[in-house]
Amino acid sequence: MYSDSDAAALYDLLDPWDPDRWPGDAFYAGLLTDAESVLDVGCGTGAMLHWARAHGHHGRLAGLDPDCAALARARRRADVEWVNGVAASMGWDTEFELAIMTGHAFQFLIADDDIRSSLAAIRAALRAGGRFAFETRHPQARAWEAWNPSNASDVVDAAGRTLRVWHQVEAVREDVVTFTGTTAEPGGAVVRVDRASLRFLDAAGLDAFLAEAGFTVEARYGDWGRGPVTSTSEEIITIARRA
Ligand SMILES: C[S@@+](CC[C@H](N)C(=O)[O-])C[C@H]1O[C@@H](n2cnc3c(N)ncnc32)[C@H](O)[C@@H]1O
Repeated sequence: MYSDSDAAALYDLLDPWDPDRWPGDAFYAGLLTDAESVLDVGCGTGAMLHWARAHGHHGRLAGLDPDCAALARARRRADVEWVNGVAASMGWDTEFELAIMTGHAFQFLIADDDIRSSLAAIRAALRAGGRFAFETRHPQARAWEAWNPSNASDVVDAAGRTLRVWHQVEAVREDVVTFTGTTAEPGGAVVRVDRASLRFLDAAGLDAFLAEAGFTVEARYGDWGRGPVTSTSEEIITIARRA
């Protein structure tokens, strides 16, 4: 079988954080370089804040995630604060200039009440005028339609095992997509199956939650080149300011 720790290491191989390669990472790298204190909500394995510290960020950096195995990888760097928990449980009080949710982590918030309490905790963590930057997949692009075995990725993990990883949608109910991620050996033997649900809010839905939580939308983009949201946009990228 494939442990949580193995899966966290595999995540970094499949989704490496690299602003030189990925425009989304470059977008956030610019924001966090300019901010004196940064909170990464849903930090996963911590790659973004590792990069920030390694590239000379001298301010306060903190990451939070409920996944213990991912956070164990984050903790390999001790000069960043790491907290195990969900966004809604955060207790920071007016401490950060910038909060970020990357890797579509915001979409892991499913229930209206969880979105409300998570946004309330993020707002509370921000200083007056602080900003919250995050992206969600635009529902109009129906990204989940590409999540099937024909789009599998082949990868050699850190232990030298050749593996095949693919996704498969189980259900689409209103704006919530439930899917599995399967990891298998080349011969087909399945070593791990993970199940997750993601919510696909449209811009109006997002803005209603943000306004209710006390944020104003400062900027909205439909792509990483800072173009507007259009009828073909695949992303909804938001920079919201604590009102
Ligand atoms: C796709 S990963 C993205 C990780 C990282 N931000 C990145 O870009 O590589 C989504 C992360 O959100 C975390 N997550 C899920 N539910 C959460 C919640 N309620 N509050 C905070 N983080 C959550 C997961 O544990 C996971 O590490």
